[in-house]
Amino acid sequence: MTLALIVLAAGKGTRMNSDLPKVLHPIAHAPMLAHAMAAGATLDPARTVIVTGHGAEAVSAAAREIDPDVHVVIQNDQNGTAHAVEQARAALQGFEGDAIVLYGDTPFVRPETLERMIAARAGADLVVLGFHAADPGRYGRLVMQGDTLERIVEYKDASDDERAITLCNSGLVACDCALLFDLIAQVENVNAAEEYYLTDIVALARARGLSATAVTCDEAETLGINSRTELAAADAVFQARARAEALENGVTLMAPETVYFAHDTLIGRDSVIEPNVVFGPGVTVESGATIRAFSHLEGCHVSRGAIVGPYARLRPGAELAEETRVGNFVEIKNAVIDEGAKVNHLSYIGDAHIGAAANIGAGTITCNYDGVGKHHTEIGARAFIGSSTMLVAPVSIGAGALTASGSVITRDVEPDALAIGRAPQQNKPGRAARLFEILKKKKEKDAV
Ligand code: UD1
Ligand code: MG
Repeated sequence: MTLALIVLAAGKGTRMNSDLPKVLHPIAHAPMLAHAMAAGATLDPARTVIVTGHGAEAVSAAAREIDPDVHVVIQNDQNGTAHAVEQARAALQGFEGDAIVLYGDTPFVRPETLERMIAARAGADLVVLGFHAADPGRYGRLVMQGDTLERIVEYKDASDDERAITLCNSGLVACDCALLFDLIAQVENVNAAEEYYLTDIVALARARGLSATAVTCDEAETLGINSRTELAAADAVFQARARAEALENGVTLMAPETVYFAHDTLIGRDSVIEPNVVFGPGVTVESGATIRAFSHLEGCHVSRGAIVGPYARLRPGAELAEETRVGNFVEIKNAVIDEGAKVNHLSYIGDAHIGAAANIGAGTITCNYDGVGKHHTEIGARAFIGSSTMLVAPVSIGAGALTASGSVITRDVEPDALAIGRAPQQNKPGRAARLFEILKKKKEKDAV
């Protein structure tokens, strides 16, 4: 079946109280629009139309970044969900097949659920996705008669009896594309909100003797986001799903509820994730790696058998090869750490390459930034960087070389060489005792 997707994303989202358009608020580091579009994309639609309005420029840019083939249409005044669908008419002129209306603020619908809606179209002209709500709040209510959906009533317009209905409208609709626009043309704005309600197409279809039905799904799938509170709840739903999936995929999460996933986090089987680990976007962790407690990772790759943390920070471009060690209070950015290399304590490694089996001593810093440009540090295989070495980039340390602790290395070091870049030590016999004597006397004198 040829499908068109219409994603409604023009709403003001007034209750978000934000300068950012509602559908661009992120859930697990991806705009909610991206989640909604990803669900729709699994159906392999022939055409996807995004209806933007509020914050159109930003929303269009985001939509095109997610899918360069989308058609973006603008709804200048947000006069309701039916009015929003109407804006897609020209983009879908002559389209033969079904249209599915998705909401940009309803990001979690599962592909299986969309498939069920499509399957239900075999028996009904109009299929609406509903859900049984524990707390139906301000959702629209589905008025059923047996398996037939008679109409949808918006909360604002509902009687007490109708408000008592717990079967709610998710907003998602599947129907023949031409019929959808036919019905939309008939919608009027005679309701409490003075908006053109998409939901009205059900009663209009029934009045024409067409059939309508509802497919139901879990409430978590249809969560519609209208406020920051609902945004936080949506993130919680996403996290619960991501944790369950990770566990299912053979990842050990010692305290699942404390691990925060991004929308694209990938973790291999038999990895261990300790408590309070945060994954930003773009992280892949191979099988059998361990991410210890309180580590923060984004835009990085961790290979098999590597151990990261506790309290490590991997920033974009950190690439850890197999069996590497990155210990506590270590920050790695845009740096490749080859197999078996160790950066175990209190270091900053940025814009660098560390060769295999090199050992980076505690407190080592790559001084990569001179206030204007960033510079590269190259460390050869098996090099031993003494504790508290400052590597002033651009600089290169040869394979097997050694830097003395506390060195400030400003020139390249040849392979197997020892580099000492620190002031020579002087010992002054008795001088400490004499100095303390002087200081004590001064203190006594000052006290009088
Ligand atoms: C809508 C439904 C309600 C359902 C709920 C589910 C209608 C009339 N009501 O209410 O039955 O229970 O969703 O979450 O459809 N939008 C536009 N242009 C507009 C208005 C809205 O593009 O002029 C978009 C919004 O950006 C959003 C979606 O449509 O993505 C839903 O709009 P919203 O205002 O959140 O509708 P609800 O009041 O939640
Ligand atoms: Mg809504």
